[in-house]
Amino acid sequence: MPFLTRRNLLKASAVAGAYGVGMGIAGKFGPAAAAPEPQLLTAVKTEAMLTEKGPTRDVMSWGHDGMPPVLRMTKGQPYAARLNNQLDEPTTIHWHGLRIDNRMDGVPFVTQPYIYTGDSFDYAFTPPDAGTFWYHPHCNTLTQMGHGMTGMLVVEDPADPDFDAEVLLNLRDWRLGGDGQFIAPFRPRDAAKSGTYGTVRTANWHQEPQYDAPAGGLVRLRIAITDVTRIFSLTMGGADATVIAIDGNPVPKRFPLDLLQLGPGQRLDLAVRMPDGEGAVATLEDIRGTTPKTIASLRAVGPSLKRNIGDLGPLAENPVPKADLSAAEQIPLVLSATAENAAVESICGTLGYSFWAINKVPWPGDTPNPTAPLAELKLGKSYVFNLENTTPHAHPIHLHGMSFTVISSSTREVMPLISDTYLVQPDEKVQLALVADNPGDWVLHCHIIEHQKTGMTSYVRVS
Ligand code: C2O
Ligand code: CU
Repeated sequence: MPFLTRRNLLKASAVAGAYGVGMGIAGKFGPAAAAPEPQLLTAVKTEAMLTEKGPTRDVMSWGHDGMPPVLRMTKGQPYAARLNNQLDEPTTIHWHGLRIDNRMDGVPFVTQPYIYTGDSFDYAFTPPDAGTFWYHPHCNTLTQMGHGMTGMLVVEDPADPDFDAEVLLNLRDWRLGGDGQFIAPFRPRDAAKSGTYGTVRTANWHQEPQYDAPAGGLVRLRIAITDVTRIFSLTMGGADATVIAIDGNPVPKRFPLDLLQLGPGQRLDLAVRMPDGEGAVATLEDIRGTTPKTIASLRAVGPSLKRNIGDLGPLAENPVPKADLSAAEQIPLVLSATAENAAVESICGTLGYSFWAINKVPWPGDTPNPTAPLAELKLGKSYVFNLENTTPHAHPIHLHGMSFTVISSSTREVMPLISDTYLVQPDEKVQLALVADNPGDWVLHCHIIEHQKTGMTSYVRVS
């Protein structure tokens, strides 16, 4: 679907349903089965205990129970959610990493109209892939995500191997002052560099939480980096951890977690073999930066289950089509800094600066008249995105609607990982291959939200 102009948008809302609102059509990624009862997600402003300083005001979530609910769905089974907007600004939900119908993708002006205060919108889709994903608004995101609206989403596969426990970690920071209340979400000079960091780091909205897990057991640790800025270098102390999936997809070959760098938007599934001794603690740490930081820990409880990581069966591969590299067309995608400082009016939250660009074009903001697509892709054809980072900063580049396979990098050995987000390092060139199998306009952007909102966004059109 092409972008809507403001006039078309008004026309579209007048005839209602122009975007296929809540029709439960799952397109080629699933049967057009009747959607189940929608899960109610009410976007609200609330308060939460994030520090010892008492409740933080102006927290945003879905519901008043603190952290957004973990959404669970099953691979190949229809799912439905009704977003009810009780915020005093428009919002939407994007299902990060899910390859679903374009009309359900949640990007204002690109795939759906704003959901205004008091309005609701029915999302309905069938997740084709199992794994660890997440969801967040795609509107005024530095504020809405920065104030709490980042939730985890698990797509289960009934054939998944058996673990003794599962622990989810939603990793994010908060920009709070000494009084525990929100401070300015960003500083322009930092937005023009690696982004503005939060001041309070949390896992599941707690600082350094500890969870119990069976001694000697195998724990599936599902981690999502939902922060708007922070890149993590993850390591585990006190237990053996094996990487079993990255960004929702099983790794081609499992490997022990030594040190893994993951950017905003990325996920990691670990199989942690808990220590045998009751009370022993395994600690997940971030060692990026000067002082290592504990993120969360697992404490062994009960008699040892004496499990062996080798006992763990494989995760089923997700049905992501393989690109035909011999026929693939090459698409250049150059990330750069731009010198302009153009502010553009947008009610969906512009930051008022333009520091970054893709193929020299800075995104003008979420407006009814954005730039032309980066590329027009033919449905069913194979492509290789040649991503080149000419900036001195790392950028987690995320593509909506389709998954790619990492083919090669100019700076390191890569596994053929299937993913939706690639953390491209300074001066790195990387090749990402995909089959353009999902029709629609799909945005592609840096998931450091200040970069996304100051130019590093574009989209591809598949038809
Ligand atoms: Cu996590 Cu454009 O999205
Ligand atoms: Cu970036």
